[in-house]
Amino acid sequence: MARLTINGKKPDIACDDETPLLYVLRDHLGLSGPKFGCGLGQCGACTVLVDGRATRSCITPLSAVQNSTVITLEGLGSKDAPHPLQSAFITYQAAQCGTCTNGMIMTAAALSGQNPAPTREEIRTALAGNLCRCGTQQRILAAVLSAFTPKGELDHDDPR
Ligand code: FES
Repeated sequence: MARLTINGKKPDIACDDETPLLYVLRDHLGLSGPKFGCGLGQCGACTVLVDGRATRSCITPLSAVQNSTVITLEGLGSKDAPHPLQSAFITYQAAQCGTCTNGMIMTAAALSGQNPAPTREEIRTALAGNLCRCGTQQRILAAVLSAFTPKGELDHDDPR
């Protein structure tokens, strides 16, 4: 029986140790925030936080997260009380197909734990491994930057 904390709960998980964490989250726990993009650790759509680190859940077996704390997009905020990054993505309408959105937000959330005031370049670097094929990168960058910036201090072009 796997032992881990997911979004503040300790669910019973009766899966094989080699089951990818993404499958456990989506198929066994009904958490659809993390997306299946490539399944190969290359696109970032499946990103979750494992002990605060951005982690590609499609290539992370359950055995690798024993006794860890996992946070998914659902655990970051709620509809009534969204995380600032979730609010910013809504405000900036920073999605087209939406497949990459989870990974962008979770990677930015991991960055916020390491660097509460990143520069635009640091955000670009952090998100470089998260792929968006729709061409929404400018809105995504603006949304993340706004989430890290106190109100009224934005100095970039608003792409809305
Ligand atoms: Fe995990 Fe693409 S689905 S990195």
